[in-house]
Amino acid sequence: MNKLLHIQASPRLGRSASIAVAEHFLGVYRARHPRDTVETLNLWEANLPEIDGETIDAMYAVRNRQPHTPAQLKAWQAVERIIGDFKSADTYLFSLPMWNFGIPYKLKHFIDLLVHRGLTFSFTPEEGYQGLITGKPAVAIYARGGAYGPGSGAEGYDAQSTYLRQILGFIGITHIKEIFVEPTVGSPTAKDEAAAAGNQEAAELAAAT
Ligand SMILES: Cc1cc2nc3c(=O)[nH]c(=O)nc-3n(C[C@H](O)[C@H](O)[C@H](O)COP(=O)(O)O)c2cc1C
Repeated sequence: MNKLLHIQASPRLGRSASIAVAEHFLGVYRARHPRDTVETLNLWEANLPEIDGETIDAMYAVRNRQPHTPAQLKAWQAVERIIGDFKSADTYLFSLPMWNFGIPYKLKHFIDLLVHRGLTFSFTPEEGYQGLITGKPAVAIYARGGAYGPGSGAEGYDAQSTYLRQILGFIGITHIKEIFVEPTVGSPTAKDEAAAAGNQEAAELAAAT
């Protein structure tokens, strides 16, 4: 029995294009894998711990093999809890809007909590950087108001998918299947076509997952 973790980065819930396609994916996935667990992490409700001075000092204390103060320990335990929950999944589903060509700040906050040496990546002078979350597939569903695909002329502005791909790869998640839902802003026909194409891709991907 596997666990799929759906990380939702849009605050728009029922009006979100990325969540709608993710739900479509999950409908097919659940039918195919009735014994799997599906967990949702809504980053807007998750109350993510701040990455404040105590947290950063706690991180350096670990690196320098120094003991934690009580405040650092509390801060570090919160980080370890987030990472432990993330690592307990076998498959990841990310649904995310494009915001100012990149990712929403809540997702960046989550990533900054997740990416820590010794927990999700390692470094040695001999081997360099190595991701520690290996053998786990991911699906990423990107929604964007405009169009950034091949031939759009705006490919270079897409810091949403390029960043997510890069940072997931850094922590070892290299098998990523992607769905682009675009454009979600503009003519109702184009929006409907984008949603329908996204749903079709999601159903096909879920059937093959
Ligand atoms: C704060 C903010 C910034 C946005 N920036 C961009 C952008 O840079 N490029 C773009 O094409 N769309 C942009 N959009 C539009 C969203 O990408 C679009 O509405 C998308 O459908 C959002 O995903 P969601 O429907 O899952 O929330 C932005 C929307 C918001 C709220």
